[in-house]
Amino acid sequence: MKIIDLRSDTVTVPTSAMREAMHTAAVGDDVFGDDPTVHDLETRASAMIGKEAALFTASGTMSNVISVLVTCKRGDEVILGDASHMFLNEAGAMSALAGAHPHTIPNHEDGTLDLDDIRNAIRGNDEHWPRTRVVCLENTHNRCFGAVLTPDYTASVAEITKEHGLFLYLDGARIFNAAVALKKDVKEFTRHVDATSFCLSKGLSAPIGSIICGSREFIHEARRARKMLGGGMRQVGVIAAPGIIALDQMIERLEEDHQTARILADGIAQISRLRIESGRVCTNIVYFDLAGDAIDPDAFLAQVADHGVWMCKTGTRRFRMVTHHGITKSDVHATVSILHNVIEKKEARPIE
Ligand SMILES: Cc1ncc(COP(=O)(O)O)c(C=O)c1O
Repeated sequence: MKIIDLRSDTVTVPTSAMREAMHTAAVGDDVFGDDPTVHDLETRASAMIGKEAALFTASGTMSNVISVLVTCKRGDEVILGDASHMFLNEAGAMSALAGAHPHTIPNHEDGTLDLDDIRNAIRGNDEHWPRTRVVCLENTHNRCFGAVLTPDYTASVAEITKEHGLFLYLDGARIFNAAVALKKDVKEFTRHVDATSFCLSKGLSAPIGSIICGSREFIHEARRARKMLGGGMRQVGVIAAPGIIALDQMIERLEEDHQTARILADGIAQISRLRIESGRVCTNIVYFDLAGDAIDPDAFLAQVADHGVWMCKTGTRRFRMVTHHGITKSDVHATVSILHNVIEKKEARPIE
């Protein structure tokens, strides 16, 4: 049976061009700064993102915690959304490894943070309080329906962080999805932030890696923090090489993932008992809810999987599907009919 794996865009596999590039990559010891392929990848990335320098890291989570390590002393405070990946899904890294104190404010459903909430969260100079150091945004926003934060919104947040002498960091794991969705240069989304990271191993389909981009000084410190985390890698050109292919060949095609997500969302909208705000879907992430209580959500998940469609359950009755390079239009049509059959034929076991 063919598996349609919609759990995440992290399930993408390297293309044959990537495997070939891995095979022929020039390598050196990157801790000595000797790996020409890593150097090439970092140089291209910083130029594309519009920052002075870049650093290749093992994962998005590592990039995020490095950025907190560089900007915060122990006990300093990070303002971020309560639905952000950095708060929800990184094993508490900012507290455990950087000793930083997360101060969450609610994410709106469009992924933004209310500007007044940000202003109110910033601490004054009182010995009772942690020192606020950083505000973090996420673009596109994973939990918030893959929403795109606009350059104008990012600029409004930057006005606040500048006024208060704070660092503005962007978890841009899927920043190229944002750029493709709004048909704008990615620099529009990054120029207002002090530093950003983005992932090579999600929609861009490289097997591994994330990149932090920022000022030369910031990246110098980030390199030290990466070393401290054990992330100083040696002949790493073999895994940087597919990252170069990702930047050269895999960005524009993200538009296809947005189209398949749209088809999927429109199809799901036609299925009784499934609730989706399909108008919200603008990139590659689709969330929907199982309405009522006639169908058991775990049984639904299992039975859809029995038909070869894998998705994630992200709430009591909420599910997430993410489209990517391995998913075609016919896969999403097949997915919609499987969901329809499981629901309409009531294959999913009713709650006793
Ligand atoms: C928005 C966001 N940030 C960061 C990450 C972490 O990336 P990694 O899995 O490479 O650690 C993810 C992973 O899905 C993500 O969705």
